[in-house]
Amino acid sequence: MKIITPETILSPTEQLSGQSIAFDTHIRAIGPLHELLEQFPEAEFVETPLHSMVMPGLINPHVHLEFSGNKSTLKYGSFLEWLYSVIEHRDDLIQGCDEQCMAKACDDMLKNGITTFGAISSYAMDLEVAANAKQKVIFFSEVIGSQATMADTLYDDFMSRFEASQKVQREGFIPAIAIHSPYSVHPALIRRALAHATQHNILTSAHYMESPAEKEWLESNSGAFQPFFKEFLKQEYAVNTSKEFLDLFKGKPTLMTHVVQANDEELRELAEEGHTVIHCPISNRLLGNGAIDLEKLDANSVPWIMGTDGLSSNYALDLMEEMKIALFMHADADLLPLAKELLASATVKSAKALGLNTGEIAVGREADLLVIDLEATPNEQLPLHLLLHGYNIEHIYINGNEVS
Ligand code: BEZ
Ligand code: FE2
Repeated sequence: MKIITPETILSPTEQLSGQSIAFDTHIRAIGPLHELLEQFPEAEFVETPLHSMVMPGLINPHVHLEFSGNKSTLKYGSFLEWLYSVIEHRDDLIQGCDEQCMAKACDDMLKNGITTFGAISSYAMDLEVAANAKQKVIFFSEVIGSQATMADTLYDDFMSRFEASQKVQREGFIPAIAIHSPYSVHPALIRRALAHATQHNILTSAHYMESPAEKEWLESNSGAFQPFFKEFLKQEYAVNTSKEFLDLFKGKPTLMTHVVQANDEELRELAEEGHTVIHCPISNRLLGNGAIDLEKLDANSVPWIMGTDGLSSNYALDLMEEMKIALFMHADADLLPLAKELLASATVKSAKALGLNTGEIAVGREADLLVIDLEATPNEQLPLHLLLHGYNIEHIYINGNEVS
């Protein structure tokens, strides 16, 4: 058993002072030091800086490790230009990022306080790295392909990658399934993958309504995707409308990434079906997709959580940076309430969406903790200052073990 006595506990938005935390793999007690000492007289003390804060580890539910090699290869500013550049450079990017490069991405996330991540895996090149990462990992094997004639081959390839992920026997590693998007996956493939996920109670994720081009293609088979599908795939029509796509997910709550371009009806459907939106503000800005309307999500009771997306559409895998950018992107929102909502969305709300027993400093939760040096006693706007200042993370615990 360990006991830590920080100046402040932030969980994830409530500030507490004068309290200690007793933890081993889980948080066992929170209270005044003298009470915890009576309960756990043998406990070991964790040394902390004078102005230390303990908060839950951050959860990044959406990253593409296999594309971690990109720095200045891909083109930003418009979704289709970006997609064309991904297709042009895919092989160099994938081959240019070996296991060491992907392991660095995991280590960078850890340094940034991310104690759990969701890896969207296109080729299973990242399986070993994710299996050996220090963090908790939800490993989403992705199914993709809009051509009906290829459906069986693609499903078999997806299933063999998914089954390989199921062979990983490591505490904190959870195999899961990702459906790429409404425009890129044939409904027959989606149906099979979702039936498997539903039958075996497997977590699911999808990209949905990311770009204006996607919206136009799904709604009217026109726009910037039209020449793309004509040239590359000889297709005149979208394989799913937006409604057909959402109908396939009925009864299977799913993490829907981006959702910048969804209309009111679609948002209502997301809420009704228990889906959760993953908001990736930096990726949305860089790919020219606009800013999600968080007020509308809240008004429609659609839960949303924060994600970084991959280094193919970001310059860092850093949720503190992501939340800071979101503070400025959603400039009409009240500042402190937004900072609090963002922090909850990167911790307790993410844990809930992923079905994990972590994300808050509360008795019974797994001890995934960040010890941060605030350098001075915080005022009541701590959630805001935390996002602004990039404070030093002194210690990181996952399941009560210190990791670095
Ligand atoms: C496809 O395989 O059909 C596809 C993949 C990526 C983007 C669009 C379509
Ligand atoms: Fe993504």
